[in-house]
Amino acid sequence: MKITAIIGSPRKSGDCFKTIEMIEKSFNRISETQVEYVFLKDFDLGFCKSCLFCYTKGEQFCPHIQVTGLLLEKMMECDIVIFACPVYEQHVTALMKNFYDNFSFLFHRPRFFGKKAILLSSTGGSGLKGTLNYMKMTAIGWGFDIAGIVGVCGSSLSSNEKYKTDVQIRIDKLVDKIYKNRKAGQPSLYQLAMFRAMQCKALKSAQKKNIEYNYWLERGWLEKNYYTSQKIGIAKKIYSDFLKHIMRKMMNGKNIIIN
Ligand SMILES: Cc1cc2nc3c(=O)[nH]c(=O)nc-3n(C[C@H](O)[C@H](O)[C@H](O)COP(=O)(O)O)c2cc1C
Repeated sequence: MKITAIIGSPRKSGDCFKTIEMIEKSFNRISETQVEYVFLKDFDLGFCKSCLFCYTKGEQFCPHIQVTGLLLEKMMECDIVIFACPVYEQHVTALMKNFYDNFSFLFHRPRFFGKKAILLSSTGGSGLKGTLNYMKMTAIGWGFDIAGIVGVCGSSLSSNEKYKTDVQIRIDKLVDKIYKNRKAGQPSLYQLAMFRAMQCKALKSAQKKNIEYNYWLERGWLEKNYYTSQKIGIAKKIYSDFLKHIMRKMMNGKNIIIN
């Protein structure tokens, strides 16, 4: 198994790193596994300039292509990607957010189908749920299947042996489950909702015939019920059709919030 860990912590031997090591150890119980530790702090990835070239011309025109191209390759050439990030101010770190911003086009032109993601966050005590939910939305938006979600309390990991053992036991159970459920099942409600939202977005750009529209058209996604040919049960199909109907109305670009 080949795993790439994208790490949004500025600490190289921090809690996220230690937890990834626990995940690596767990995979190696079952089959030989290599984790490539990709620390975003080592990459000279500038802030997104909002040139929108990735949206209007293609990702190869991004001014940061030398770095984004490399990171994209690392995510493509592995079986599982671990996205790991500590909670900073109840959210992901600026390092991680900048990484997500630079790959924002992947929401519109997703490509990681059949690839699994593990989402990992570490905290001093709060903000795990919100941070992991945000990371989940991004990974699903990019086309990943979520294989697991791991949230830990960093201080307990280094000071409480019982807590650390408990985390390792739970990680082992998760890894066993990942090996057991290797085949892709049905898309989740979340994945279907995300698909419908992005399908509506692509359909809205029909007149512009932009690269987003063409990407969807070439793949036949504009009329499909999901990106892949994974089976969709009848209840989920009804839910998905309903979403298609209401999302086109909701996406009218007239949102206002004034309280
Ligand atoms: C700038 C900064 C902001 C932080 N914000 C939060 C926070 O909002 N809530 C929290 O519980 N812990 C917070 N922490 C603590 C980290 O989330 C925690 O120590 C984490 O385990 C660090 O992981 P790492 O060692 O992989 O970097 C913050 C730490 C720093 C340095």
